[in-house]
Amino acid sequence: MSTIFITGSTDGLGRAAAQSLLGQGHRVVLHARSADRADALGELKSRAQGIVVGDLKSAAETKAIADQVNAIGRMDAVIHNAGVYTRPGRGATPEGHAETLAINTLAPYMLTALIQRPGRLVYLSSGLHRGGEGSLDDLDWTKRAWDSAQAYAESKLHVVALAFALARRWPKVLCNAVDPGWVRTKMGGAGAPVDIDTGQRTQTWLAVSKDAAALVTGRYWHHLAQQQPASEATDPRFQDALIGKLGKLTGVELPEV
Ligand SMILES: NC(=O)c1ccc[n+]([C@@H]2O[C@H](COP(=O)([O-])OP(=O)(O)OC[C@H]3O[C@@H](n4cnc5c(N)ncnc54)[C@H](OP(=O)(O)O)[C@@H]3O)[C@@H](O)[C@H]2O)c1
Repeated sequence: MSTIFITGSTDGLGRAAAQSLLGQGHRVVLHARSADRADALGELKSRAQGIVVGDLKSAAETKAIADQVNAIGRMDAVIHNAGVYTRPGRGATPEGHAETLAINTLAPYMLTALIQRPGRLVYLSSGLHRGGEGSLDDLDWTKRAWDSAQAYAESKLHVVALAFALARRWPKVLCNAVDPGWVRTKMGGAGAPVDIDTGQRTQTWLAVSKDAAALVTGRYWHHLAQQQPASEATDPRFQDALIGKLGKLTGVELPEV
C-alpha cells in the first residue's frame, strides 16, 4: 500500500481521489486551505494518515505545508491537484504575485522542491493548457492587461512543462501530467459532461498502479490514455527557462538531479 499526499482534498477531484485511494486501502494525507475548510473533510478526517493546512496563495503557508508533509514522513506519491479557474482580477498574494500564478504554478513548484522526493508526482493540468503558450515574458502578469482565461491556460501549461522537466532531471521519479476532462465539480460546474469518478481515475491510477502502462514518466494523460501536449510543454528550452524564472520568483531552487 502507498502513502499519497493530495493537495486541495476538501472538494472536487482532490476529495474524490482521496476517497478512491482510501477505498483501495492506501494511506492518504489530506490538505485544506484553512482549519475551517479542514472541517469540510468530514468522515475522511478519521481515515486519513494526516491532515495538513495552508493556503497555497501564500508562499509562507506553502512552505509550511511542505514542512507538515515532511514531518509525517516520505510520501510514495504526491498529486498536485489544488487549483483555481478564472479569477476576476490579477489579485496580489502576500508576496505580490498574481493569485492564479501563485496557486496553480508557484505552489506546485515550491512543494515539489520542498517535499521529500516521492516515487511519483502527478500534476493536474487541463486541455485548456493548449491556449497557454508564450507566457515567459510576463509570467506574473505585471505588464499585460489581466485575462483570466489566458492566465489559467498558462498555469496549466506550466505544470505540464514542470512534469516533463522533472522527468528529465529526476529519472527515478515517475512524473506525469493529467487532463481530467471537463468534470462536474465546484470548478467545472453542474453542466460538465464528465462525472467525478471518471475525472479522478487517471491521477489515482498514475499515483499507485503497478500496471506497466502506469510506470512511465514525462507523459500527458487524458482518461487513462496518453496524449501529445502543447509543443512548449515538451520543449526543454522552455522547461528550463520556466524553472529558472520560478526559482527567481519563489527564491526556492529545484534540485537539478
Ligand atoms: N473540473 C474540471 O472540469 C477541470 C478541468 C480541467 C482541469 N481541472 C483541474 O483539476 C484540479 C481540481 O479541480 P476541481 O474541479 O476539483 O476544482 P474544485 O472543485 O474547485 O476544487 C479545488 C480544490 O483546490 C483547493 N484550493 C483552491 N485554492 C486553494 C488555495 N489557495 N489553497 C489551498 N487549497 C486551494 C480547494 O479548496 P476549497 O474547497 O477550500 O475551495 C479545493 O479543495 C484543478 O487543478 C483544476 O485546474 C479541473
